[in-house]
Amino acid sequence: QRVGADRTEGFTQVTHRYPMLSLANTYSYDEVKEFYQRVQRDLGREDFTIAAELKYDGLSISLIYEDGLLVRAVTRGDGTLGDDVTANVRTIRSIPLRLRGEGYPSSFEIRGEILLPFTEFNRINSEREVAGLPLFANPRNAASGTLKSKNSAVVASRRLDAYLYYVLGEDIPKKSHYENLLMIKKWGFKVSDNIHLSTSLDSIYAYIDHWDTERRYLPVATDGIVLKVDNLNQQQQLGSTAKSPRWAIAYKFEPEKVETKINKIVYQVGRTGAVTPVAEFDR
Ligand code: IVH
Repeated sequence: QRVGADRTEGFTQVTHRYPMLSLANTYSYDEVKEFYQRVQRDLGREDFTIAAELKYDGLSISLIYEDGLLVRAVTRGDGTLGDDVTANVRTIRSIPLRLRGEGYPSSFEIRGEILLPFTEFNRINSEREVAGLPLFANPRNAASGTLKSKNSAVVASRRLDAYLYYVLGEDIPKKSHYENLLMIKKWGFKVSDNIHLSTSLDSIYAYIDHWDTERRYLPVATDGIVLKVDNLNQQQQLGSTAKSPRWAIAYKFEPEKVETKINKIVYQVGRTGAVTPVAEFDR
């Protein structure tokens, strides 16, 4: 078994039909500009549109639908092999078990992020505090612990949510990523209302500026912005490296900084024997 993957014993492992790549990260407007100019150059100066989206800070999930029914839900794992968490995912109310409307391919895959909303995170932690149980460090850890639970009733009691942002398959209805997301919304999936189509760097910067502050009012955690070339033919033209697509990047928000005092440093020994120093501090 490869080290570092989020696979868990007790779940059946499944090979992804399409590998689950990650996104190249950027941290500055200059790097965003480099991405934009590279796309411009690689598309031979052809016009293009960028879909700017929020980067959700949860767990990525791959859902397979056959004839309108959810047949399988698999975690990212190491990108090639993931855990089959279908039974748990079936309890998430915002993931349709049966699609609505029409026009969906007979077989397709849809990817998104599973998240625990802040209000649910606080509720669960308050209950755990009363019960003398260890608290979850953040909504992402809580979502991960929940999705990997062997008891689907526990999963159902913690109201996980899911935002979907990527459709894959042979017969995808539209040639525009954004239009595909509008389609999947009609089939019953939860799609962000905050996607913006940009045809200039300035409007991308304006989107990033806006969400860097506004994200604190969202019900779920976000840690950046994802920029995607909207046209699927252009995406194909740009292609991917072994790790990430060349048609998309993530811009990561600077984490919030606060002052604190380190009380103690403990040494944690991991599964592989690696020792990691961990600082304990007050909130
Ligand atoms: S698109 C080929 N869109 O960020 C890449 N990913 O390292 C397809 N993520 O593994 C991913 N919000 O878990 C995409 N709006 C969004 C996203 C998003 C969060 C996560 C996803 C992915 C990771 C990238």
